Amino acid sequence: MASKSSNIVNRRRRKKQTVLAGVLLFTILWMSACSNEPKQVPPKTFDYIKPIPGPSEHVPPEIASKGQVLVGYSDCYSCHKEDKRSVGPAFKDIAKRYPVNEAYRDYLSKKIISGGSGSWGAAVMIPHPKLSLENAKAMVSYILSLRQ
Ligand code: HEC
Repeated sequence: MASKSSNIVNRRRRKKQTVLAGVLLFTILWMSACSNEPKQVPPKTFDYIKPIPGPSEHVPPEIASKGQVLVGYSDCYSCHKEDKRSVGPAFKDIAKRYPVNEAYRDYLSKKIISGGSGSWGAAVMIPHPKLSLENAKAMVSYILSLRQ
């Protein structure tokens, strides 16, 4: 009799242990599943424009429209769009970076003539050796006038 009842107790104990082990396993799996969830990290914002501070001059509308016509007749729109990034930066983004003054007009005109890369990324602007400095400056005036 005694051995029979102790058998029942043993069986009950084993059953209890199995249930406990099951609960434990479930908890471990559940916890590890939770810790594997991707954490909500805010997306890194990268300042592509990097605006340069400084006072800006007003671009006379006749120079801006002369520049716009010259840009239209050249190959600029094969790589640039006015308000969207393409092969090259959007003209509006260029206008947001550079203040309008003679130093930047000069730098940007010479960059259009000689071409290059590195200011906006790895893409390369082809050189425009036939472009006069005066016409390149009108083009730059048009591009920079887009900030106004
Ligand atoms: C072959 C493609 C291509 C053509 C054609 C092209 N560009 Fe670009 N342009 C680029 C790229 C790429 C950049 C970015 C260069 C860099 O990161 O330094 C750029 C940059 C510029 C910049 C900013 C330069 C700086 O250092 O911030 C100006 C201004 C510009 N282009 C004007 C023009 C004008 C005006 C024309 C037409 C005469 C023209 N581009 C034609 C590809 C082009």
